[in-house]
Amino acid sequence: MSSTDVMEAPKSGGFSRLFRRKNLDKILEQSQNQEHSLKKTLGAFDLVIFGVGAMIGAGIFVLTGAAAAGSGSSLGAGPALTLSFVITGMVCAFCAMCYSEFASMVPISGSAYTYTFSTLGEFAAWIIGWALVLEYSVGNMAVAVGWTGSIKELLHASFGITVPPWMVNNTVSTVHSMEAIKNPDLLVKAIPFTFPFTDVSEILIVQKAFNLPACLIILCVTWLLVRGVSESAKTAAVMVFIKTAVVLLFIVMSGWFLFGGGNMHVLHTNWFADGWNTFAPNGWKGIITGASLIFFAYIGFDAVSTAAEETKNPQKDIPIGIIGSLIICTLLYILVTAAITAIVPLDQINTEAAVVGAMYSMGIEWASIIISLGAIAGLTSVLLVLQMGGTRVFYAIARDGLLPKLLSKVHPKFQTPHVCTIITGVFVAIGAGLLPINLLAEMCNIGTLGAFLVVCLGVMLLRFTDPNRPRPFRTPMGLTFPILGIIGCLVVMSGLPLTTWVVTIGWFIIGMVIYFGYSYRMPIKEDA
Ligand code: ALA
Repeated sequence: MSSTDVMEAPKSGGFSRLFRRKNLDKILEQSQNQEHSLKKTLGAFDLVIFGVGAMIGAGIFVLTGAAAAGSGSSLGAGPALTLSFVITGMVCAFCAMCYSEFASMVPISGSAYTYTFSTLGEFAAWIIGWALVLEYSVGNMAVAVGWTGSIKELLHASFGITVPPWMVNNTVSTVHSMEAIKNPDLLVKAIPFTFPFTDVSEILIVQKAFNLPACLIILCVTWLLVRGVSESAKTAAVMVFIKTAVVLLFIVMSGWFLFGGGNMHVLHTNWFADGWNTFAPNGWKGIITGASLIFFAYIGFDAVSTAAEETKNPQKDIPIGIIGSLIICTLLYILVTAAITAIVPLDQINTEAAVVGAMYSMGIEWASIIISLGAIAGLTSVLLVLQMGGTRVFYAIARDGLLPKLLSKVHPKFQTPHVCTIITGVFVAIGAGLLPINLLAEMCNIGTLGAFLVVCLGVMLLRFTDPNRPRPFRTPMGLTFPILGIIGCLVVMSGLPLTTWVVTIGWFIIGMVIYFGYSYRMPIKEDA
């Protein structure tokens, strides 16, 4: 059976192709038989590890600082960032339920992209696939930049080595005033701009710099993924164990410092000196803005569903993997954020390395080295999982003929989609060298929230259009969770800055050009 046999023929010519859908029964049959099928090696435990591996990373180790204290024109949430994590965790849980229902019905590679193809049709699937490529690849660029930051911090704080800024700074960045330019000698160009009809203004700076470590680590990860998913999953498992242990160590040390070391007054001052005004200095607006940035910390649980085709018993294992990893991470994040904001006054939080900075402020030098190493291991495991997620979506799109067939080639020896893995790797490596972390993380958030929204919509639709299909995992309480998921995504999206929206819209315009310029023009021979 060829890959496009699963398509239902469009009813008539013209735009009907946009709504052409996949037949779920045929896709399932195809995933069992086709020559391109991937090796089934993963179980429920692997998937929980996989999810935790994707989630704990730059979001908690790096972005928590900026989300609590604020950065540039973005409002900080203060200690109330703990509430932002509760809100975002709940939104993700609603979406996770929908993801699980979908993934258990359609246990094949491609994630929300494939689910959408079978419900809303080709055009919506393309948009969602494009959003997922944004999530995984642009998200991975952000993590790689955070990886460089952690290495830099470790070398500087522990070994007194200062890395030349030209090899660790990103080429393009934004600042809010000329004074905020950290390395004037690297400056090539400063371009001030104000968004029309708003009072938002920023200065875009171009520097003689390229983030070399970020670029190189992505190339190493790409090589590992070409070698095979099983090896990569094992490597990730070791690093997931290390970073989880380090996060727990931080929580225990903070608890000991506050409750055992007689520092309860520090917590009281940092959280409640002026009541609610101290706890949430920018009120609910700050809490939502914080939620929209730290949403990045949750990205990854959905990557579990992209591995469905490589999972031994996807109907049971995928829901366990998604929901299990989400619960573990939410608890850890709330505790870490509570500890950072309790120990460090808001204006002293290290926005480049929040967790490591908090360790230093407790006066425990040795622990900061361990935390730095753990953060580096943690970020490396995120790089592996996100990179794999991105290539799997890319592979699924190519297999459907919406991108050139060459991209869906599977390596004869390693049984991995090596062509799209290498292309994605080079794209991500270059982006990680050029662009700044906040912009990348926020773009990734928009793409992901958009994909989640469509997944929730798709689950609702399928309940009406295909009510009798077996749902090994069924989201409880009727349509409550999909509806809450949609509302939650819209609320979190509302906190993202204008710059990010503008750049992301540019990304989708490129996607439209590729779709209408290539994919839409491809013949649909097998449909007839
Ligand atoms: N959730 C991942 C991180 O925080 C993407 O790095």
